[in-house]
Amino acid sequence: MAINRKKIEKFLKNQISIRVFEEIDSTNNEAKRRASEASLSPALYVTDCQTAGRGRRGHDFYSPKGSGLYFSLALPVGGQPTSIQLLTCASAVAVCGAIRALSGKNAQVKWVNDIFIDGKKVAGILAELVLDSQNKPLSVIIGIGINLTTAHFPAEFAATAGSVGNIEPNRLCAEICNRLFDLYTALNSSTEAVSRMIDEYSKLNFVLGREITYTDRDGTHTAKAAAIAPDGSLIISENGESKALHSGEISVNPVKKSDFT
Ligand code: BTN
Repeated sequence: MAINRKKIEKFLKNQISIRVFEEIDSTNNEAKRRASEASLSPALYVTDCQTAGRGRRGHDFYSPKGSGLYFSLALPVGGQPTSIQLLTCASAVAVCGAIRALSGKNAQVKWVNDIFIDGKKVAGILAELVLDSQNKPLSVIIGIGINLTTAHFPAEFAATAGSVGNIEPNRLCAEICNRLFDLYTALNSSTEAVSRMIDEYSKLNFVLGREITYTDRDGTHTAKAAAIAPDGSLIISENGESKALHSGEISVNPVKKSDFT
């Protein structure tokens, strides 16, 4: 198989223990099973085939053999409060940066964690916190799935999913981890680093300035996506009022003719 521990190591800047799997249910599940490994030092679990890949909000993540890169980076957090929202934003910045650097393609973000190229979702991020028996954060697991050369998707994803193209997966994995590791270290040490990251995340986001639709317990709403807040939430303007969306799914509405007049 194309995924190779030594090749990833060759490109990695930081000391991270790496485990590669021919096939696994989900690298996030594996990282959870081995949570004690990552409570002291960073660990990376990588495969090119998941049999039960998981997405956000209970969705599946289609992970066929040999045409994608699926990995989880587990980082110790030493009991410190950790913002999953900010780490998800940082991961999106790292994924877009790495794809742009290695392929030259215009990877963009759809708030909160979907990576798109030319209107198709090519990658997703699932960040999860592991708690100890006293409910203190032990480690954070950042799961990233990227469609590289997948040509056919199951019917439910066929209209929205796409692939990045033929990037060397070991190099891509290391490049993302290098960028993410740098961001993670910076975010923990300075508030300026947080605002720089949010700035970059905002620039990569194609939803800002667009009309969006979102659903909450009161029903379906239409609003304008205005900005990304310092905590990573989406500031929207709805009926003249401003409010923050902290999680959930949004869809971006097609541009209307009247928007140009
Ligand atoms: C999403 O798009 O909703 C998030 C998808 C995250 C998929 C990755 S693949 C590696 C890791 N293992 C999983 O089971 N999920 C994440």
